[in-house]
Amino acid sequence: KKIVVFASGEGSNFQVILDNMHSINGKIVALIVDRECKAVKRAELNNIPVVRIIKKQCNDRNEFDRQILKAMAYSEADYFVLAGFMSILSKEVVKKFPNRIINIHPSLLPAFPGVNSVQKALEYGVKYTGCTVHFVDDGVDTGPIIAQRIVPIIEGYTVRHLTEQVHVVEHDIFPIVVKLLCLDRIKVEGRRVKLLQGEE
Ligand code: GRF
Repeated sequence: KKIVVFASGEGSNFQVILDNMHSINGKIVALIVDRECKAVKRAELNNIPVVRIIKKQCNDRNEFDRQILKAMAYSEADYFVLAGFMSILSKEVVKKFPNRIINIHPSLLPAFPGVNSVQKALEYGVKYTGCTVHFVDDGVDTGPIIAQRIVPIIEGYTVRHLTEQVHVVEHDIFPIVVKLLCLDRIKVEGRRVKLLQGEE
């Protein structure tokens, strides 16, 4: 399977996918970024072409969306993996690739969608948070949930501690989901996501 990864930041989730590509039935054909970021370096070190669609340099939202769509179509990818991509894909883009775009989000959705989810969970006082991998639909962090992992919130945690703990579970879950996706073992039925049986 051909995969395109999208990132805007550190790229640690991108890195775990790179590190696990040997056991994934797929190839990363491009990294798309919307700003200069550390993920670019990771792609370069792994000889993965980088497509820069710098949001700030686009005249308007339409131009950005058009360029994203063009890059996605050109890639001929089967799946698109948002690994810390900070722009929201337009409804038109999402509609073109139903159940082919996944995202990782640092909370137990539907709690704390949007930005600053780790901080929001801490401030709210929930005792557990975690991460979610989901298909992208035309809402913000609302698509069918593929997998989640829990992180207990221990008293005294700062946003930094909790972010680190959430990253640990993200790094655990994300390559597994990408692997299953590339094996076509993840099926969507309405809002529900089913995992088809395989050999392991
Ligand atoms: C992750 O916490 C992910 O859930 C969120 O953005 C963060 C990206 O981290 N969407 P990194 O760039 O992969 O280190």
